[in-house]
Amino acid sequence: MIRPHYLVTGGAGFVGSHLAAALLARGDDVTVYDDLSTGHRAAVPPGARLVVADLADTAALEAVLAATRFDAVFHFAALSLVGDSMQHPLHYLRTNIGNGLALIDACVRHRVPRFVLSSTAALFGRPSDGPIDEEAPVEPGSPYGESKAALERALLWAGRVHGLRAAVLRYFNAAGADPDGHLGEDHRPETHLIPLVIDAALGRRPEIAVFGTDYPTPDGTCIRDYIHVSDLADAHLRALARLDLGSVTYNLGNGAGHSVLEVIRAVERVGGRQVPVRLAERRLGDPARLVAASDRIRGETGWAPRHAALDTIVAHAWAWRAAHPLGYTG
Ligand code: UFG
Repeated sequence: MIRPHYLVTGGAGFVGSHLAAALLARGDDVTVYDDLSTGHRAAVPPGARLVVADLADTAALEAVLAATRFDAVFHFAALSLVGDSMQHPLHYLRTNIGNGLALIDACVRHRVPRFVLSSTAALFGRPSDGPIDEEAPVEPGSPYGESKAALERALLWAGRVHGLRAAVLRYFNAAGADPDGHLGEDHRPETHLIPLVIDAALGRRPEIAVFGTDYPTPDGTCIRDYIHVSDLADAHLRALARLDLGSVTYNLGNGAGHSVLEVIRAVERVGGRQVPVRLAERRLGDPARLVAASDRIRGETGWAPRHAALDTIVAHAWAWRAAHPLGYTG
C-alpha cells in the first residue's frame, strides 16, 4: 500500500512539529516546509523530510508541489503574535495573507485534494461572556486575526469553485509540550504566558508582568482557554479524516477559561516555587475573554482532550522547559 504523504508548512514550529510527529507515528510520510525563521531544525521529528524555504519563494514551493503528490497540506507557517501584529499590521497582513494565498493557489493547481489551516481564536474580537462556537461573528481584534479570517474566506472560495476540501482549525491558546519530552515550545523571543511564567519561577527572568488588571473579568486579568498541543495534533488527524465528508470549521479549546493570575498560581503549584509578579498596563489587541465551545469537533469526530487540566498542561510545559534551558539549541 502506498503511504499517504503530507506537506506540513511550519512543521519546525511549536504546533506543526507536534502534528508532524503524530503523522509519522502512525506511519505516514511527512515533508516539512519551513524557512526556520522562527522554527527549529531540531524540532523537525526524525523521519520527516525538511525543505528549508520561504513560502514567498514561489519557485521553491512549485518545485516541492510538482515533485510529490501530497494527500493534504497542513498550513502552520505564519506570523502568529497578536501583540506584535498591532505594531506591524501591514507586515502581518501581507505575509500571512500573501503566503497563504500563494499556497492555496499552488494546492489547487497541483490538485492537492485537502487543506488544513491553522486558524485562531483571535478572529473573535467582540467581547463574549460564554464559550465561543463556530457561529460566533468573525470580528478580528488584531491584524493577526484579520489575516487568518482572510485565509478562511479564501478557502471557502477555493472549495466552492475548485473543490479543495478544507479543515479550518481555530486554536485557542496552544500550550503544554509533548508528554514524552521530545518536543516543546521555543519562541525567540518568548512572548507567551505559560513559558514566561515558568521562566520567572525558575529564576531565568526577574518577574512576570501581568498585562492589564482592569478587564471585565472576576480578577481583572484576561481569560484564555489553554489547550494542550498534543490534543491539538490529535484534532488535526481527526479533522483530516472528516474531510472525506466535506469541508469543516472547528473551534478548538477545552471550554475552560483561566485568568492570567490563575495561570501564575498553577505554575506555583506545579513547580512548588513562588513567581515574582508585576502588575502592568494592558497589551494592545488583547480581548478580555476567549473560551471555546468545541462541541462540534467532539460530536463530529469523537475528539476529546486527553490533557485538559491546566496543571497537566503546565506540568508538561515545565518539564520541557526545565530540561531544555536553551530550548532546541541546547
Ligand atoms: N500575558 C501577560 N504577560 C505576559 C504575556 C502574556 O499578562 O508576559 C497575558 C496576555 O496579555 C494574554 C494572556 O496572557 O491576556 C495570554 O497571552 P499569550 O501571549 O500567551 O497568548 P495570546 O492570547 O495573546 O495569543 C495566543 C497565540 C495566538 C492566538 C491566541 C488565541 O499567540 O496566536 O492565543 O487565543 F491567536
